[in-house]
Amino acid sequence: MVSKSKEKKQQRKEMFAKLGAAQQLLSKANVPDKDHMETLVPFKKYNRNGTDLVIQCVHYEQIDKETFEAIYRILEDNMKAEYDACYWGWNERDKRDEMKEKNPWFLIARNSEQQIVAFAHFKFDFDEEIAVLYCYEVQVTEDMRGKGVGKFLMQILELIGAKSEMQKIMITVFKHNPRAVHFFQDILKYTDDETSPKFMDPMDEKEYCYEIMSKALKVKKASGS
Ligand SMILES: CC(C)(COP(=O)(O)OP(=O)(O)OC[C@H]1O[C@@H](n2cnc3c(N)ncnc32)[C@H](O)[C@@H]1OP(=O)(O)O)[C@@H](O)C(=O)NCCC(=O)NCCS
Repeated sequence: MVSKSKEKKQQRKEMFAKLGAAQQLLSKANVPDKDHMETLVPFKKYNRNGTDLVIQCVHYEQIDKETFEAIYRILEDNMKAEYDACYWGWNERDKRDEMKEKNPWFLIARNSEQQIVAFAHFKFDFDEEIAVLYCYEVQVTEDMRGKGVGKFLMQILELIGAKSEMQKIMITVFKHNPRAVHFFQDILKYTDDETSPKFMDPMDEKEYCYEIMSKALKVKKASGS
């Protein structure tokens, strides 16, 4: 009896230590003026396949209204129909709130005319007691697709996640978006996450329209940053 309660106490202690360590990493990553691309200078430019882009990584607090609106427009153009094709539907207010709340970060790609042509929206957050980089969106304008931009943005996110010592990178993908499923599954080698409805609720597969996919990150201890 005694040893069992000691064992439980020890387990609780370990769990709190783990949560505390994850919280510390999240607090460190979520400093709004932190430059997550400070040591990723070569990734601030992308000029393959006829493109000439500059990429920056910023916290929501660092972007102006015009930038936010441009990002929101790309999201709506790309995704409204996808949302409307599932029971979630498109809800402008919810989407805008999601992009503003709880420490949202953005990778923003601009062309030589300063127009935003692609972006990623992500958060450093808890998922089931571990610290993760959750990618809420990766969006490329239609005319810029198939030029490697989406892949490049995801590569940057993986590097940022690893440098921030996040354990994995996660994303929600609509099952009825075959290009996105192909992109994450076959090109980027993501697999269905253990928290995906596929595993949590296998009997009701027809009831949900999305999967949660993830990839483990090779944690790189930050050097003094
Ligand atoms: C999914 C998306 C982000 C991919 O970005 P992208 O810049 O078009 O993709 P890339 O050019 O980086 O292509 C990466 C790979 O996908 C392949 N690919 C690109 N376009 C493709 C298409 N239409 N059909 C099949 N494969 C395609 C490329 O061949 C490339 O593979 P390779 O590296 O082996 O050559 C982009 O299509 C998009 O913004 N779609 C709308 C929004 C969306 O669905 N977002 C994802 C959910 S959050």
